[in-house]
Order: sequence, then structure tokens, then C-alpha cells
Amino acid sequence: MKTIAVTIVLLGMLIVSSRAQGPQPDKADFPDDFLWGVASAAYQVEGAYQADGKGESKWDFFTNTIGVTQFTIGEKQTANVTINQYDREQYLRDIQLMKELGINTYRFSIPWSRIIPQGVGEVNTKAIAHYHLLIQDLKEAGIEPLVTLYHFDLPLALLQKGGWLNRESVQWYKNYAKVIFENFGNEVRHFITFNEPYIEFFVADFMMNPSQSKESGNVRYAKEMDNVNHQLLASAEAIKLYHEMNLKGKIGITFNLSPCLPFDAGNPEDVEAVSLQDELLNRIVLDPVFKGKYPKNALAAIQKYNPGFQPSAEDLQLILNNQPDFLGINFYAPAQVKKDDGAPLGVSWMGNNTDAVKMANGPVRPEELYNLLMRIKNEYGDPEIIITENGASFENDEDKVVDGKVNDMTRTDYIQRHIAAAEKAVKDGVKLKGYFVWSGWDNFEWIFGYTIRFGLIHVNFETQERVPKSSYYWYQHFLND
Ligand code: BGC
Repeated sequence: MKTIAVTIVLLGMLIVSSRAQGPQPDKADFPDDFLWGVASAAYQVEGAYQADGKGESKWDFFTNTIGVTQFTIGEKQTANVTINQYDREQYLRDIQLMKELGINTYRFSIPWSRIIPQGVGEVNTKAIAHYHLLIQDLKEAGIEPLVTLYHFDLPLALLQKGGWLNRESVQWYKNYAKVIFENFGNEVRHFITFNEPYIEFFVADFMMNPSQSKESGNVRYAKEMDNVNHQLLASAEAIKLYHEMNLKGKIGITFNLSPCLPFDAGNPEDVEAVSLQDELLNRIVLDPVFKGKYPKNALAAIQKYNPGFQPSAEDLQLILNNQPDFLGINFYAPAQVKKDDGAPLGVSWMGNNTDAVKMANGPVRPEELYNLLMRIKNEYGDPEIIITENGASFENDEDKVVDGKVNDMTRTDYIQRHIAAAEKAVKDGVKLKGYFVWSGWDNFEWIFGYTIRFGLIHVNFETQERVPKSSYYWYQHFLND
């Protein structure tokens, strides 16, 4: 192991010497107890989809039964194996790589369908034992766990009962959260209730079954809001419970936030579309949590197609009264917004990207991370913030292994510039408590299957071989210097 470690550091020094230009952030500008980490989600990395009595999740069903959408044409890609991280031999090797990287925290998710295979009812003790051991193994390596309770993977049995559209889902989730807190509440210091309510429904689920007509697209889109509202309620109930249990850590919720910019600043229609898109993308989750209301224009647009969506004053009060201890932000890119009559609710952002070298999630604009952090500070009561995901996948060849190396300089430059933007926000008073790269490893990217890579560590999906990329060495250098 020691020889491997020395080789990795030496290789790192070599690669770092040719690192990207631009602002060099300094770790010393961040608080001493700052959480530095990498992030993952169970469905994307674990595999072992039936091990130890696991129940089927909705994504097991989507991929094995329906098949992944148009993005992986002709191929049926699943995460039945993916990068095999449920396997202890494999995850111990991955922990070693994290240790050598120099991070102090690993963000991962626990799948509900492992802990309570049918969603409600019997608790699976084998799964509980697995995560106790994983947490212990991480701590022995000097790495703290940050645990997401829910990252898109509802137990299938609950989907069959109506899923998040069913208001009972709030109770199902609260019950699951109780099991997690009772078992792991004393050993985990940071929990996240939900990862990206909006994205789960409006992007992932929505695209699993693309609507044929404009009308049904609008209706489906508007109906998904019931799901989001139930998740916000479930999150509030879990936060309430966590605080009542008097556990010593912190609990937050993670939103994917994308500052909205006009696609064409010279086109008044695009300029006008920005404010509605901002309500639909960002304020739709921020406003209920921090202000106790849904934004007016988004609500009206949604109610046009889903008149039954009438969140009650009591629900909104419950959400407002149980605010997260920290806000998790996943930031990838701003949204370049177009007025688009063919898109649900008349505005579009996905797939709009004016950059020459395209990044999968949109244009590269690190200054928008800074602007976003300042906006949250100024408009949403200056909460503690953790950047729970930041990372990139580019439409170029940089993720290829050449002579045993992966020279991902575009990603390296992206991460460097985003950490510099976060550093600037810290200097300007934002209560930023952590930063996590998405992702530690290449993995299963939802509707895109294995066609897109985000890792600091390259994974050969056939052999499970890991190769740290230039971005890994840059981050290592930044963390250890
Ligand atoms: C999700 C991750 C996903 C990443 C990259 C985020 O929306 O939380 O699960 O892999 O973006 O697209």
C-alpha cells in the first residue's frame, strides 16, 4: 500500500506541475473545520442490486424493466453492478484512494430499499450492519460520513402505491428516517433529507417517459409539483424528528440551484422568460423552505394545468417551522433560458448551452456560483451552506486513459475555478461549511447510463480498474499543500 501511496503522490506532483492556469484558491482561506469531500449516490455506485435482501427500487425497475431512455439508444444499461461499491473489498480500496486524496468527509446515500425492502414494514438488519461497518471503515481512515437519506431511489413497492403523489409518502418517509436516526444518529454528524426534489421529478422521471404532446407535457409537469410538495413536507417532518431526538449533528436538504440567464441577451423574449424559469427552478424550493410560500407566477403556471395543487397554510407553516440546519447546494451551471412555446410551461433551459466546449449540465460560469452563494446569503436569511455537489463532464476526449493516465484538464480547470469562486464568497461572509466534488468516481449517470463521466477517478466499467485523473491530483495538491 505504501509504495502505491508514494507513487500516487509523485505522479500527482508531476501532473500538478502542468495544472490549469487561473485563480489558485488557497485552502487556508476556508475555515479549519471545513468539510472537504467527494460525493456519490447509492444507485449510481453500489451495484449489488439484490444483495443482502435488498428490495427493488424505482430505478432498478426503470433500468431493468423499462430500459434507459433515448440517451442510451439500443443499449439497456442498468446499475446492477455499476462500480461495485457495495462490495467491501472494493470500497476499502476506494476508501484508500479517498484517504490519499486528503479529504475529510465522504458524502454517500443509503438506499431506503436496502433498509426497509418494501418501503414500510420489516427492517433489514443485514443492511443496517453493512452501513455500520462502512461508517466504521471510513472513520478508521479519518473520513467522516455525510449521509443522504434519499437520492432518487424510492422503493418500488411504494411507487406502486402511488409514490410521492400519495400524501401517505410523508409518513412512509418519516418512518424510514426514524430507522436511520435510531441506528446511525450517533455516528453520523451530517444528514441530508433529500437530494434535489425538483430534478428527480422534472428531469429524471419526466424523461423516463417523455410526453408526446405539449398539453400532456404541461399537465405532467404541473402534477409533479405534488411530489415536490410532499418531499418538502417529508423533509420538514424528518428535520422535526431529528431535532426532537436531540441528536448532536446537523441535518439539511440539498437543492440543485441554477442561476437563470437569458439564452440570448439581445432577445427580449428570452430576457422576459428568465424570471419565470428562476421561480420554477430555484424559488420553487427555496421560497417554501425559507419564506413559507411558493412563488406566485410559478404557482399560477402550475395551477393552470393542476388546479388541485393548493398547498395549505398548515403545510407551508410546517415546512417553514422546520428549517434545515444547513442548505446543501448542488451547483453545476447556470440555466440559459429561452422562451419556448413547445416546452412545458413555455420556458426551457435544459440542453441550452452557448459554450464551444460543451459541458453536460450547461455552460461553465464559476462567477455564477459566487453570485448564487451571495444571493442565498442576502435573500434567504444567511443560512449555513454546504456545496454538496460541484463537478463536470465535458463533451471532449479528456476522460480517455492514455498511457495509464487520464489528463482531464478541462475538469481540473472547472474545479479549480469553482473552488476559487467559493473562496471569494467565504471572504465576503457566506457561511460556507463544506465543498464536495461530484463525483469521486465515474459512475452510472441516470438517464445517460455510462455515456457520461464525472469522476476524479476513472473507472473501467468492465474490469472495475480505477485510475486517478489529473483532477484528482490537482485536488490532492490543493488539499495537502
Ligand atoms: C445529481 C447526481 C448526478 C449529477 C450529475 C445531480 O443532479 O444529484 O446524482 O449524477 O447531478 O448530473
